[in-house]
Amino acid sequence: MEFRKAFQRGAASCAVMLLAGWTWALAAEPARNEACLTCHEEQGKSLAATIHGKLAGGAPDCESCHGPGQAHVDAGGGKGTIFNPAKGDAAKVVAHCMSCHDEREGRRFFAASTHAAEGLSCASCHGIHSPKKVKEGFLRDGSTTALCLSCHKNMEKSLFERSRHPLREGKMACVSCHDPHGAPTRHMLKAASANDLCFTCHAEKRGPFLFSHSPVTENCMNCHNPHGSSQEQLLVRRESRLCQSCHLEGKHQTIAGQPNDTWNSYRMCTNCHTNIHGSNHPSGYKFLR
Ligand code: HEC
Ligand code: HEC
Ligand code: HEC
Ligand code: HEC
Ligand code: HEC
Ligand code: HEC
Ligand code: HEC
Ligand code: HEC
Ligand code: HEC
Ligand code: HEC
Repeated sequence: MEFRKAFQRGAASCAVMLLAGWTWALAAEPARNEACLTCHEEQGKSLAATIHGKLAGGAPDCESCHGPGQAHVDAGGGKGTIFNPAKGDAAKVVAHCMSCHDEREGRRFFAASTHAAEGLSCASCHGIHSPKKVKEGFLRDGSTTALCLSCHKNMEKSLFERSRHPLREGKMACVSCHDPHGAPTRHMLKAASANDLCFTCHAEKRGPFLFSHSPVTENCMNCHNPHGSSQEQLLVRRESRLCQSCHLEGKHQTIAGQPNDTWNSYRMCTNCHTNIHGSNHPSGYKFLR
């Protein structure tokens, strides 16, 4: 009993202290931005609507991202007297954001990414004062795929190809396969290699197989286009032509001008060579079973 009372007293005073700390933090929070808010009420509101504005204690204040503001305040506001991430040097924006979102969070490859090399900064994609979807990390665009397509316009048609990944349905997005913050892999892929990326969802293609087809082991993109294709199954070419782009010599050549050729018509090569990704059958060495 005694112990429980002591415990309850302890817990109660702990709660009081926590509450006090919390209200202090709440009270202290706006004070840091006060000078700015007298003139920039709108930016204060938009910031408050995001996760940045809702954090107590370590939350960023105006100066965390805009740098020292005294000169700007002394000048009574105006352009050119304080850092504006929308116009400023990309590396400087990145430095401001990375002072909190450092490499431990998986953005350690940003500096070496194609996006950084192209002069993009964090503010190119994250609209700090113009959030459309707070939950998704207040990206400039509500949907991450729409954000990517706003610059990668030439990729838009891939969403409407005959065969494609389900991006339009929202079941996947560009970020299912790419990390816009950079990655050690080519094309900023979210895996150690292109094939490892495909295996994360198509695990049955990984093998190991008793008989493996070397172009499959080498790179799925020997035969598939991950973004979309006017052929079935994301294939880069119509099937028999695809196979014959490598298999010029063999037991059964198809001959130009003979569309009814047994090896070609209707059947396609994979009607017989069904296990084209590899076979575990003892006599599957020609991928027939
Ligand atoms: C987390 C970083 C961050 C914080 C914190 C922040 N800003 Fe910004 N601010 C930005 C970025 C990035 C831009 C560039 C425009 C954009 O992406 O929304 C910007 C743009 C602005 C602009 C220029 C708007 C324009 O249309 O060019 C003003 C004014 C501004 N911020 C004021 C403030 C004030 C006032 C605060 C504090 C209440 C604040 N900012 C806090 C990142 C921040
Ligand atoms: C006395 C009013 C006033 C105060 C105080 C003030 N600003 Fe401004 N600020 C302005 C005006 C006016 C502009 C120019 C807006 C325009 O022309 O669109 C401006 C512009 C800016 C810009 C854009 C600069 C550019 O070159 O594009 C940023 C960023 C900014 N303010 C941030 C801040 C921050 C952060 C604080 C607090 C440290 C602050 N302001 C305090 C009035 C003020
Ligand atoms: C003073 C520290 C600080 C600065 C500077 C800062 N942030 Fe943040 N930011 C945080 C904290 C803390 C969180 C909430 C915890 C978390 O999710 O990492 C957060 C959350 C975020 C989120 C949402 C994460 C999620 O999981 O939804 C994004 C996106 C983000 N910040 C981007 C930026 C960008 C872009 C900049 C630079 C313009 C920036 N931040 C500057 C501290 C900061
Ligand atoms: C090319 C666009 C782009 C750029 C540039 C970019 N981001 Fe992001 N960021 C995104 C997208 C898209 C997401 C959502 C990722 C997801 O849903 O998997 C995101 C998510 C985040 C998150 C949430 C946590 C996470 O990792 O998923 C943080 C924090 C963040 N970004 C910070 C930054 C910082 C800091 C920079 C600058 C060094 C930056 N971003 C540059 C597009 C970008
Ligand atoms: C503000 C413009 C912009 C936005 C937004 C943007 N990108 Fe990019 N991205 C570029 C530019 C510029 C390049 C370099 C030229 C190219 O390859 O098209 C690039 C290159 C790439 C590359 C090729 C990298 C390489 O090394 O081959 C990938 C992958 C990529 N972006 C994915 C994304 C994804 C995923 C998103 C959405 C989260 C996105 N990008 C959003 C501008 C943008
Ligand atoms: C199923 C996974 C996957 C999805 C989803 C995906 N990509 Fe890719 N992307 C790849 C792979 C794999 C490569 C490398 C292709 C290669 O090696 O030939 C690549 C390459 C790229 C490249 C550089 C080479 C090129 O073709 O220009 C860009 C840019 C790119 N993707 C952008 C995007 C954008 C934008 C989206 C969303 C509309 C997207 N990707 C969706 C897997 C994907
Ligand atoms: C994030 C999960 C994911 C990743 C990563 C992924 N896929 Fe897919 N893939 C899917 C889904 C989901 C479908 C659609 C399945 C369905 O509609 O039944 C699909 C379908 C396919 C199809 C059949 C398309 C059709 O028209 O029927 C092929 C081929 C394919 N993926 C190849 C690849 C290749 C190659 C890679 C690696 C570059 C890859 N996938 C990476 C999830 C993924
Ligand atoms: C030598 C060409 C070739 C290579 C390389 C290749 N594929 Fe395929 N893939 C095909 C053909 C042909 C089809 C359609 C015929 C069929 O149904 O098997 C197909 C169909 C698929 C399908 C949809 C039907 C199914 O079997 O689920 C997926 C998913 C797929 N491939 C994933 C992959 C992955 C992952 C890789 C890399 C590990 C890869 N492919 C490498 C030729 C190839
Ligand atoms: C990118 C080139 C490439 C493509 C495309 C390709 N293959 Fe292959 N294929 C190879 C290589 C390399 C081997 C291994 C040859 C060896 O071991 O002598 C092989 C082996 C084979 C074998 C076993 C041959 C043997 O002698 O044991 C068959 C059967 C086969 N492929 C059928 C196909 C079919 C059917 C397609 C189309 C769906 C196809 N291949 C597409 C490169 C390719
Ligand atoms: C009617 C079924 C059938 C069709 C259709 C077919 N194949 Fe075959 N293929 C076979 C059989 C059976 C063998 C095995 C012969 C053996 O074991 O000696 C074989 C063997 C092969 C070999 C091994 C090479 C060799 O000389 O042994 C290759 C490569 C090959 N086929 C490629 C193709 C390509 C490319 C196509 C499409 C243009 C295709 N096949 C269509 C039944 C077929």
